[in-house]
Amino acid sequence: SGFWVVVPAAGVGRRMGADRPKQYLPLLGRPLLSLTLRNILGWPGLAGVVVALSDRDSDFSYLSESKDPRVHRVTGGAERADSVLAALDFLAAREAPETPVLVHDAARPCVALEDIEKLLRAEPVALLAQPASDTVKLSRKDESGPSVDRTLDRGSIWLAQTPQRAPLGLLHACLRRALAQGAEVTDEASALEFCGHSPRLVPGRSDNIKVTHPPDIVLAETILRLRYA
Ligand code: C5P
Repeated sequence: SGFWVVVPAAGVGRRMGADRPKQYLPLLGRPLLSLTLRNILGWPGLAGVVVALSDRDSDFSYLSESKDPRVHRVTGGAERADSVLAALDFLAAREAPETPVLVHDAARPCVALEDIEKLLRAEPVALLAQPASDTVKLSRKDESGPSVDRTLDRGSIWLAQTPQRAPLGLLHACLRRALAQGAEVTDEASALEFCGHSPRLVPGRSDNIKVTHPPDIVLAETILRLRYA
């Protein structure tokens, strides 16, 4: 019983422009991945964690969290969805199809326990998301660059966060099918949508940021410092 968490952490972090993948950059003096795992290992009801790492990364065992018996490692793939699929292959061989799975980006160390509890209380197919606060433009490409095609209805725009939640069997089947059919799969919800499901949007806190660009490191450190001060 309990739920599993899948952590895709096999990216290269190109937009960060650092000397190593962003999941290994120091945040409050510890590697980002280490903070995210420490956060996850404190979620009540957790059965285990499957971390998808690049096969270029041998340096996982130096993280103290990797020694927790609930933490398992698989080798990730070329895209985020391939990394998640590798973790689901691992889980499908040992857990029941109805086991709840939460997929959570290594790059989101700041997700708060109250949001995890909200997601666990929601429907079995659901994701944390944030109502858009900026006005959103749909663009078209002109010769000289992008320009506005039209403005979308802001009231219906949500920005997807993680964790994203679904039963193991359903998520595994949808992700496999979506990838096999060449669908654009940038999160778990898009694979589920591809298979006709409508994941529930659970409003998440705005400080569940994804560390992507250099200033996000400082922002994440500030969020964590304020929370645990
Ligand atoms: O690039 P982006 O910020 O969307 O990556 C989200 C998460 O997916 C990161 O934690 C990254 O390490 C992971 N990822 C992965 N395998 C890839 C690409 C990204 O696990 N091939």
